[in-house]
Amino acid sequence: MADAMGLTHLEVRPMTAHTGADIGGIDLGADLDDTTVAQLRAALLRWKVLFFRQQSIGHREHVAFARRFGAPTRAHPHEDETPPGFPEVLALDSRRYEATFGRKWAAFDNGWHSDVTALVNPPAGAVLRAQQVPRYGGDTVWTNLVAAYRGMPGPLRDLADQLRARHSFGHTHETGGSYAGRDARSPLVAIHPVVRVHPETGERALFVSPSFTLADQQVIGLSPRQSQDVLAMFHREITRFEYTVRFRWEPGSVAFWDNRATAHLVPGDLNDLDFDFDRVLYRVTLEGDIPVGVDGRPSELVSGPRYAGTGPATTPTGPAGDPGRAHPPAGWEREHR
Ligand code: SIN
Repeated sequence: MADAMGLTHLEVRPMTAHTGADIGGIDLGADLDDTTVAQLRAALLRWKVLFFRQQSIGHREHVAFARRFGAPTRAHPHEDETPPGFPEVLALDSRRYEATFGRKWAAFDNGWHSDVTALVNPPAGAVLRAQQVPRYGGDTVWTNLVAAYRGMPGPLRDLADQLRARHSFGHTHETGGSYAGRDARSPLVAIHPVVRVHPETGERALFVSPSFTLADQQVIGLSPRQSQDVLAMFHREITRFEYTVRFRWEPGSVAFWDNRATAHLVPGDLNDLDFDFDRVLYRVTLEGDIPVGVDGRPSELVSGPRYAGTGPATTPTGPAGDPGRAHPPAGWEREHR
């Protein structure tokens, strides 16, 4: 909280050896000074996901907070998924899933993924806020892709450094409905380096996103069988327990993650059970840069445009002139999550 001089004293409490820090001493609804924003950014880069408790903020403050760290992207064109007046806010609402997918789900069943890696410029980060949470279950788990890369033996790191993989949207969504139709009409495909160099820290991250790189023939230059085997190995590496942190939501909890260095999963423990409570969370994602591999080669767009933010950040993001940053023309917005 702010002292008599108006300065915020952040408490940064790491939650595991590699991933996640619980942040105290801050009201996300307040106007944050530049020093506090810089401290939060440093904590994010170090711990990859930050957690805040008991924040009484609404959509306006949520978007304003996210905007201090980048340009929020447009969330979704369907009105029932964005609260009126807040096109940057995606509602993740269990009450909608039954109508949409015909399944009683507490959370969208995405498996392990970094957000929207089928885009050539996946989001740089995301801020997720809980409004209503189940009495039990419905947690979210994050893993640290930098720790996963560092934890591999040298020969595996060397192999990963050389590979590129195709990420596509939709092939794991067996739910049909509007998602399948939308995917068929506007496929979203990008080729990313399997190891991306983080534009701010220079760290190498094992950038595989199992929900987007599962199908055959994803690793460029390998046979389908080889590709499956190699990806299965990397997927095992990124999901090792020692790199993960599991977060129990309460109303007013907020999680802020670096999507360039983490993947996440909603375990789906409640899905298809006869639970009688709702899970309502809201997410704002930040426009991302185009990933760059260890050889300096950027990702390639195969199908679909870049994802543009809805307006400038209120603080600069990344180093000036960063060649990896996307500068998409206004209006190139996408509906995929
Ligand atoms: C997401 O995948 O961004 C949502 C995670 C969640 O519902 O906890």
